Amino acid sequence: MKNILLIGGSYGIGLAIAKELQYDCKIFIASRTMDDSSLLNCTHILFDATTDTLDKSTLPEVLDGLIYCPGSINLRPFKGIKPETFESDLHLNFISMVKVIQSVLPQLTASEQASIVLFSSVAVQMGMPFHTSVAASKGAIEGFAKALAAEYAPKIRVNVIAPSLTDTPLADKFLNNDTKKEKSAERHPLKRFGKPEDMAHMAQFLISEKSSWISGQIFHVDGGMSTLLVNS
Ligand SMILES: NC(=O)c1ccc[n+]([C@@H]2O[C@H](COP(=O)([O-])OP(=O)(O)OC[C@H]3O[C@@H](n4cnc5c(N)ncnc54)[C@H](OP(=O)(O)O)[C@@H]3O)[C@@H](O)[C@H]2O)c1
Repeated sequence: MKNILLIGGSYGIGLAIAKELQYDCKIFIASRTMDDSSLLNCTHILFDATTDTLDKSTLPEVLDGLIYCPGSINLRPFKGIKPETFESDLHLNFISMVKVIQSVLPQLTASEQASIVLFSSVAVQMGMPFHTSVAASKGAIEGFAKALAAEYAPKIRVNVIAPSLTDTPLADKFLNNDTKKEKSAERHPLKRFGKPEDMAHMAQFLISEKSSWISGQIFHVDGGMSTLLVNS
């Protein structure tokens, strides 16, 4: 069984990933809360990525995978975004992620071939108004992931999933009534918004042996949003 460290698996995309991985992997979920006690093969570690050093006492000596889920979607006109917001977005999405990866490098390099999965956003590939802060933070992740993948090949694979709008607590304010849901579905060439499972299936693939020849890639799981222009 693979040992997987999942930062932020208590709800949203992370919980969907844990549900997919629970039968084949031993999962170590590090998050501030954890309500779902029905998961198999799961150990919870209390962890705030923005303030805490990860407690590694319950982690095994070998980690075969690391998935980092904490992220933000702060959408505002650029002129009104305080530098502090850019800093806090960068801190949660990127700096805290870097610290986690560095803290478990010995465990990852102890694996025959480890897999790191990170989350970006459709707003990096595609310029969108009001997305300057999130696009900057997630853009940092995409560049970082390719460089890290090169530096650690073939020992550690590093890939990124770039979702479009996905139905999770983070995106609730964009999907909290039927009108918003219909408009969001309509904006996507594949005519629906994302489900956490759409991302979880890609993450499961990227953690598995089936993707053992794939590294340094950005996967646009976005209903065609970043690539397709479809006449409606
Ligand atoms: N949903 C979307 O539409 C969308 C679109 C583009 C990109 N993304 C990206 O996809 C990733 C997952 O998004 P999501 O929608 O599943 O987010 P979510 O609903 O907010 O879930 C985030 C998960 O991360 C954990 N987390 C948040 N802050 C944390 C912290 N400081 N320390 C430790 N754990 C923390 C949360 O658990 P606790 O609160 O228990 O700590 C939760 O398990 C994010 O990076 C996001 O930016 C999402």
